[in-house]
Amino acid sequence: MKPLKIALAGLGTVGAGLVKLLTDNAGIITARAGRPLQVVAVSARDRNRDRGIVLGAEVAWYDDAVKMAEQAECDVIVEVIGGSEGIARHVVETALGRGLHVVTANKALLAHHGVALAATAEDKGVVLGFEAAVAGGIPIIKALKEGLAGNAISRVTGILNGTCNYILTTMRETGRDFADVLAEAQALGYAEADPSFDIDGVDAAHKLAILTSLAFATPVDFQSMHVEGIRHVSAVDIDFADKLGYRIKLLGIAQATDHGIEQRVHACMVPVAAPIATVDGVFNAVVAEGDFVGRSIYEGRGAGAGPTASAVAADIIDIARGNRSPAFGVPVAALVARPAASMERR
Ligand code: NDP
Ligand code: HSE
Repeated sequence: MKPLKIALAGLGTVGAGLVKLLTDNAGIITARAGRPLQVVAVSARDRNRDRGIVLGAEVAWYDDAVKMAEQAECDVIVEVIGGSEGIARHVVETALGRGLHVVTANKALLAHHGVALAATAEDKGVVLGFEAAVAGGIPIIKALKEGLAGNAISRVTGILNGTCNYILTTMRETGRDFADVLAEAQALGYAEADPSFDIDGVDAAHKLAILTSLAFATPVDFQSMHVEGIRHVSAVDIDFADKLGYRIKLLGIAQATDHGIEQRVHACMVPVAAPIATVDGVFNAVVAEGDFVGRSIYEGRGAGAGPTASAVAADIIDIARGNRSPAFGVPVAALVARPAASMERR
C-alpha cells in the first residue's frame, strides 16, 4: 500500500498532538484510510525543544516552513503554525500552488482568505481541509458539509471558544480571578498565541464566519460581523446570572433574516434549562437548525492537543480515502453573496 506522505508545518500543541495520534493509532488509521499515513517532513523554529514526541531519523527537518512547502516530496501539507498572514499564509499558498492537498487548523487564515484559498484548491484539484479550525474535536464541518447537506439551514449557534468557556466556567465554579484562569488556559494549550483573540471574541468570530459560509453557501464574511468578547464580564455578573437561573456564555450566532445574514459574537445569558448552558470548561457546542432535520446539537472538547489532532487526522484520512469535497461544501462559483443584516435592524 502506497503511504500518504505528510509534511507538517508547526510542531506546537496541535502539531505535536498530531504526531502522537498518528503514532499511537497507526494501526486503526491505516485500516480506515486504506493506506498508511507517513510523516516525511516537519518544520518548526526550535530544533532542540523537547516536544514529547519521537520523530524517526527518516523525517526531514526544515527550519524554514516555506522551503518545506516548496520542496518536500509529499502529498499533503498540514499547516498548524497559525496567523492570517505571514508564514502560515505563505506555506498554504505555496502548497496549493504546487498541487498539494492542504489541511489546516488555522481559522484566522480561513476567515480572511478562505474563499481565495478554496478557489486555488479547486483549480488545482486538491483538498483544502479545515475540520480542526472550528470547535476543536467536534466534526462540525463534516456535519454541515455532509450530514446536513439536504437541509436549508436557518440558524447556527455555538460556544466556539474553549478558552472563554473555560474562563467563564472556572470563574463561576471557583471564584478565581479572570487573569489567573486565562493563564491556566494558556498553560493547557487552549489559548491562541495572542490570547486577546480569544477573550475579545475574535477567534469565535473567525470560526463563526467559516460556519456561516458552510451553512448558507455564502462567501466567508468576517468583516461585517458584530464582535464582543468577555473582558467586561465580572465575577459579580456571573454570580447574578447564576442566582437568576442563567449561565453567561460567549456565543456565536449566525442566522438568515429578511434583511440578509446576521452574524454576531457576544456574551449571552443562557437559561440553565437550555442544553448549551451546561456545556462547561473547554467544551464547545454547536446547534444547527435545518428545515427538515430540525435542531441538532453537537458537543465536544473545543481546544487542546488531543481534540484538535483528532480533527486534523480526520481530514487527512479523508484525503487518503480519496474524498474530494469542496472546501466550503459547494464550488466557489456557487457561493452566493448575501447582504449582511446589521444588529440595529433586529
Ligand atoms: P503553537 O504556538 O503551540 O505552535 C505553533 C507552532 O508553529 C510551533 O511549533 C512553532 O515552532 C511553529 N512556528 C511558528 N513560527 C514558525 C515559523 N516561522 N516557521 C516554522 N514554524 C513556526 O500553536 P497551536 O499548536 O496551539 O496552534 C496552531 C494552529 O492551530 C493555530 O492556527 C491555532 O489557531 C490552531 N488551533 C489551535 C488549537 C489549540 O487548541 N491549540 C485548536 C484549534 C486550532 P516552535 O515550536 O519551534 O516555536
Ligand atoms: N484558542 C482556541 C479556543 C483554540 O480556545 O477555542 C481552539 O480553536
